[in-house]
Amino acid sequence: MNFDFTSDLRRRLGYRLIDHIDDFYTSLPQRPVQLPADERSYGPLNEAMPEDGSDPCEVLDEVSRAMVEQGFHVPAANYFGLMNPTPTYMGFLGEALVAGLNPQLATLARSQLASKIEVETVRWIGERVRWLGPFNGTFTSGGNEANFSGLALALAAKFPTAMDDGVSAIGAAPIVYASAEAHHSLDKSAGLLGIGRKALRRIALNRRLQMDPDALVRAIQEDLRAGCKPFCVVATAGTTTSGIIDDLHALADVCRRYELWLHIDGAYGGALIFSDKHRHLIDGIDRADSLTIDPHKWLAVPFAAGVILTKHPDILERAFAVYAPYMPKAAGAVLPDNSRISTQWTRRMNAMKLWLTLKVHGRKAYEEHIDRQMLLAKGFAEWVRRSEHFELAGPVMVPIVTLRIKGVTDARQRAEAHATLVEEVTSDGQRWISDSIVDRESVIRMMIISYLTEQSHLEGLQAAMVAAAERLKETART
Ligand SMILES: Cc1ncc(COP(=O)(O)O)c(C=O)c1O
Repeated sequence: MNFDFTSDLRRRLGYRLIDHIDDFYTSLPQRPVQLPADERSYGPLNEAMPEDGSDPCEVLDEVSRAMVEQGFHVPAANYFGLMNPTPTYMGFLGEALVAGLNPQLATLARSQLASKIEVETVRWIGERVRWLGPFNGTFTSGGNEANFSGLALALAAKFPTAMDDGVSAIGAAPIVYASAEAHHSLDKSAGLLGIGRKALRRIALNRRLQMDPDALVRAIQEDLRAGCKPFCVVATAGTTTSGIIDDLHALADVCRRYELWLHIDGAYGGALIFSDKHRHLIDGIDRADSLTIDPHKWLAVPFAAGVILTKHPDILERAFAVYAPYMPKAAGAVLPDNSRISTQWTRRMNAMKLWLTLKVHGRKAYEEHIDRQMLLAKGFAEWVRRSEHFELAGPVMVPIVTLRIKGVTDARQRAEAHATLVEEVTSDGQRWISDSIVDRESVIRMMIISYLTEQSHLEGLQAAMVAAAERLKETART
């Protein structure tokens, strides 16, 4: 079958797809997150590659139905996180538009308006960071790539020949510091950049959730005495498990004192720049040398969309630009080619979904979205505080609540009880929460990430958690 469908078939397929997506969105407030535990399967699919094609309407219907029936639905209102959102509908449409037009963002000469829209979106974000001087950045595939880019920028800034000569030519071990709870993408990045995972020093900055910048100072001084070259601190604005925001000013002060690059991983919490009411939580974010923000988390656009920004635009080219004579040049261009400021080469247009969402809903829609989720989380935390079964495991800074079962003092038994409770709550597939570890202690974790989540969904979760806790108690008694 020819790839070149008729106009009539293209339209029929497009309308069918829109119908499937519309049914899905309509179902999300009530839709189970996944199949019940005994119906889930994790093995491979074994069909052979088709030699000949099939009817496109049938194939599209079949795969749309199967993806909905057998999928795990992070967009469902009862998905209580990790940090994966219900996409805005404009975000979905933006993705479809970009896939259809397939703009190539490697160079300005071949993308033109698409690149300009991306640059404008980066400018909007940088202006909300309140960077008054020059800045630039680029969209990435997510926080992992953005953090990788942040470390690459730090390396290129502090060791100007590192990108050409390699890290070994620095002559001493370059060291990065991050809080114990910082995201594991940093370990990956430190390994891939040749810094070495062991050179990422994780400090208990937030031990007992009290910021202790002196622990960082002590580590830096020790490394300096040992002949190492500290060059970067990574602060986190919204840690993955507990949503803790590091004291950004305190870390920025340490960076200024020791001339270190400050990268802020605001993959999730960086979205607070869109809230006038809550942005005080990330006070000091403008002091970052580089910053990660993931629109595909709190800003509710479809995967994939991360952003790396820096207020040292020249370092972007130092870190990422290589000469390729075949790349088209735009005469008189004032904007840099994207392939010269990004880890990527051929570039998808990841900015469109955020740009479209902002054009249609405006910044204030994010203000309301953030405010509503903060309020819901505070209410949930209040319920935990009053509960006879649970207690809070840490403060609630953003809409992430960590809690534990009351009355189990042995750490191993508590971790087992948490795992059993999470299993029980999630086994019918209706809703999803998780357990994790904070400060070496097991916690149950829930977050409010879907813009569809309402108080009624929280009440459903509370009922399921209480029922599971009572069953656990019953089992312990027998
Ligand atoms: C704080 C933080 N940084 C970075 C990442 C990695 O982002 P991504 O999964 O978009 O690559 C995550 C993922 O949850 C995160 O929570």
